[in-house]
Amino acid sequence: MYSFNNQTALITGASSGLGIEFAKALAARGANLVLVARRQGRLTAVANELKSLHGVQVTTISRDLSKPRSGSVLLDDIARRKIQVDVVINNAGFGTYGPLAGENPDRIADEVSLNVGAVVDITRAALPGMLERNVGAIINVASTAAFQPLSNFATYAATKAFVLSFSEALWGETEHTGVRVLALCPGATATEFFDVAGSDAMTGPMAAASDVIATALTALDRREPSVIHGANNRFAPFAMRFASRKAVIRLARRVMSKNRPTT
Ligand SMILES: NC(=O)c1ccc[n+]([C@@H]2O[C@H](COP(=O)([O-])OP(=O)(O)OC[C@H]3O[C@@H](n4cnc5c(N)ncnc54)[C@H](OP(=O)(O)O)[C@@H]3O)[C@@H](O)[C@H]2O)c1
Repeated sequence: MYSFNNQTALITGASSGLGIEFAKALAARGANLVLVARRQGRLTAVANELKSLHGVQVTTISRDLSKPRSGSVLLDDIARRKIQVDVVINNAGFGTYGPLAGENPDRIADEVSLNVGAVVDITRAALPGMLERNVGAIINVASTAAFQPLSNFATYAATKAFVLSFSEALWGETEHTGVRVLALCPGATATEFFDVAGSDAMTGPMAAASDVIATALTALDRREPSVIHGANNRFAPFAMRFASRKAVIRLARRVMSKNRPTT
């Protein structure tokens, strides 16, 4: 079992959704936290709650991680505060919903930069110290969107395919060390994600964020390279192995089109 006790975990996207649940779960296991997102007020509220509940140390840093190299600058800032990062949860991310031709170019550039660039940058900055100490954990939040192209969610799905591939490759690089790397692939989960993505029509069942985090921590204990939350979500990637690429793309397009807002 991975012991978070007295370790320090950097959690990105800790002002909402899965990030807050990661913060709660790790604080309950005795981890000190560095919480990062743009909305400082929310980070402060989470920090105050967890400090008083669990007596852990919590540092908050307001940062826009979609800026190029903001991840390594963040790790430098944390080092200047004399904080050693033992665990990284690369969780900050967002999706843009709709046909690519109509997307705002700045917004999709930020999407790629946050969902992909910051994950690589933060991981590259944190990993050497973990390897030197021969202990540490990195959880990168991918998605079930990683397993197939998603028309109307093209950029988002591609960023998550990157996160899954990147994380599993790093699992291979670190397998025989004390460092664990995991890609977490949630399906639809009740957070602010779909409000931000602009897909109000996503009406299917949503997992509870706390369940998703429990799945991640169990998989980390088992040293899995990746984990998909939920039995239903695990079925699709398995079934898709037996279908043609065309069939997979068309089916996914139909599912995503159903979820397009009609207004
Ligand atoms: N919910 C789902 O159905 C679902 C499914 C699969 C995967 N995921 C993935 O799960 C992760 C967490 O998302 P969530 O569902 O918890 O959504 P959420 O509630 O919208 O949370 C997203 C978090 O990312 C932060 N963030 C967004 N842009 C940022 C930026 N430029 N710089 C720094 N932080 C930024 C947000 O904080 P600020 O706005 O304060 O910056 C927020 O804390 C994402 O990677 C998402 O792709 C979600």
